Amino acid sequence: MIKYIPEPFRIKVVETIKMTSRPEREKIMAAAGYNVFNIPSENVYIDLLTDSGTGAMSDNQWAGLQTGDESYAYCRNWYHFEETVKSITGMKYVVPTHQGRVAENILFSTILEKGMIVPNNNHFDTTRANVLANGGIPKDLVIEEGRDPEKTHPFKGNMDTARLDELLKTEGPRRVPIVFVTITNNSGGGQPVSMANIRDIRKVCDKYGVPLFFDACRFAENAYFIQQREKEFEKKRIAEIVREMFSYADGCTMSAKIDAIVNIGGFIAFNNSLWEAPIKEKLIQIEGFPTYGGLAGRDLEAVARGLEEVQNEEYLAYRVGQVRYLGDLLEKAGIPILKPTGGHAVYLNAQKFCPHILPAQFPGQSLAVNLYLEAGVRSVEIGSFMFAHTDKITGEVVYPDLELVRLALPRRVYTKAHIEYVAESVQQLFHKREQMKGMRIIDHRDSPLRHFIARLEFV
Ligand code: F0G
Repeated sequence: MIKYIPEPFRIKVVETIKMTSRPEREKIMAAAGYNVFNIPSENVYIDLLTDSGTGAMSDNQWAGLQTGDESYAYCRNWYHFEETVKSITGMKYVVPTHQGRVAENILFSTILEKGMIVPNNNHFDTTRANVLANGGIPKDLVIEEGRDPEKTHPFKGNMDTARLDELLKTEGPRRVPIVFVTITNNSGGGQPVSMANIRDIRKVCDKYGVPLFFDACRFAENAYFIQQREKEFEKKRIAEIVREMFSYADGCTMSAKIDAIVNIGGFIAFNNSLWEAPIKEKLIQIEGFPTYGGLAGRDLEAVARGLEEVQNEEYLAYRVGQVRYLGDLLEKAGIPILKPTGGHAVYLNAQKFCPHILPAQFPGQSLAVNLYLEAGVRSVEIGSFMFAHTDKITGEVVYPDLELVRLALPRRVYTKAHIEYVAESVQQLFHKREQMKGMRIIDHRDSPLRHFIARLEFV
C-alpha cells in the first residue's frame, strides 16, 4: 500500500467545483487557443496549474484579515510582518511587494547593468524574464543530475559549485553582481538544495566577494527535505534549519503566495545598506510606501501568520507526503515522471510520455491540453513552449533539457480522492498516448513570456 499522511486539519468552508463533459471541454479548449492559461477556471475540475496564490488560508489567517490596519504608513500589521520576516531570514531590511516577480524586478533593476550575468541553479520563468529585461544574462548551473529526469539524487536542486567557481573566476564580481539559488528548484522539478551545497555556494561567493540571494518561495519545503534527507539535520526543528539556511544568504526574494500560503504577497529582504534607498525608492514608484508595498494591511497580517504556519512539521509532512503520494501512484502505473518527486508538484516526463512528438512540436503542451480534454484537470507545460528560444548570436533555437508537465498541488486544498482522480486520469491518457498530436504556435513571438498568452493548434 502506498502511504498517505493524513491532513493535519479539517475542512470548515467548501467551494463547489464542477465536472464538464468531453464535448464541452473540447469547445472550451478551442476557445482558449489550446493554452491552459486561457481556460475560465469555473470549467476546471481539478486545478493544478500552480501552487501560487491558490492555497487555502487557515482560520487563524482569516481571523488575521479582520485585524487589518489600513493606515497608509506604518500600520500595525507591518510591524508583525517585518518582525516575522526578520526572525526567519535574519535580514536587516525587509521590503514588502505584492508578489514575487515585483521583488525580482525591483532588485534586478537596482543592481543589474547591461551584460551582467546572474547565475542560479535554475531561473524560474519570471526570474529569467526580469534578468533579461534589465540587460542581464541568466545562467543555469544546476548539477548534472538535476538535468536528467531519470536520475535520482536527494538534492537534485543543488548548484554545480565547480561551474560557479569557474564562472566567477573568468567573469569576476563586476560582471556577476549576485548569485541566486532557488529553494526548492521549481524549474528543475521542485527539487531541494542541501545545506551542504548552500554552504559550498557561500564559500565560492565569499572567495569572489559576491552576494548570495535565495529565491525563497518554497523555503519551508526545502527545509523539510533537509531534515528528511541530510543526516546532520534529522533531529533539528524546521525553524532551526530555516534559520541556518538563511544565515548563509545576503538576501532573498520571496513570493508569499507560495510558502506563506496567502493569495497575494511577497517581499525582498537583504543586508546591504547601500541598496536600501534605491530599492525603497523604486518600490514607492511602482508599488507603494515601504510599509505596505502593494498590499493591504490585512494581507501583511495573513503573510506573517502564514510564514509561521508553514514551518509546522506536521503540515510539511502532510504537504510533501501528498505530492509524493501522487508521484507514487503514477510511478506504480508506469507513468514516466521526474524522479524523485519534488516538494510542491509532480512533473510528468512529457518526452517519454509522448516520444513521437518532437520538442519543436511541444510534447508537454500537447500533454497538458490532452489531460484537460480527458479529465478537466489543468496542469502546466514546463518545457519547450515555456523555454525554447532563439539564440541571439547563433540564430539557432535552443531547447531546454527537460520537457515536463507540472501537476502543482495547491496547499491544503485537495483531498486524497482528488489526488487519486488525477492519477487515474493521467493513466487513462497514458493508454492512448499514441493518439496525441504535436502542436504549433499560431501567433508566434520569441518572448520569454509567450507561454502565458500564445495561442496554438494541433499539427
Ligand atoms: N520564483 C519562483 C521559484 C517561483 O516559483 C515563482 C512563481 C516566482 C519566483 C514568482 O512569484 O508568482 O509571486 O510573482 N511561481 C508560480 C508557479 C507562479 O506557478 O510556479 P510570483
